[in-house]
Amino acid sequence: MGILKANIPGKYHVDERCIGCAICSAIAPQNFRSDHEQGYDYVYKQPDNEVEESLCAEAMDICPVDAIGATGTGGGISGRLKR
Ligand code: F3S
Repeated sequence: MGILKANIPGKYHVDERCIGCAICSAIAPQNFRSDHEQGYDYVYKQPDNEVEESLCAEAMDICPVDAIGATGTGGGISGRLKR
């Protein structure tokens, strides 16, 4: 599944499955932002503290279409939080 080019590169990303429900930008407004024209949300800032990390992990868990992924070198914080 293609990762949206709008994402700031890093641990978290939104992919093409996003339906623009905007739950992630409601949960983690510091990290996700809605592009209303394109109809999706994207990562505009990677989390840089524990609170943001936790909210991003929560958004990833809650996304109804599983469009949020965590990869890369971010380490195990989300791995520990993910149910
Ligand atoms: Fe899209 Fe999922 Fe966020 S559908 S708007 S990535 S919660």
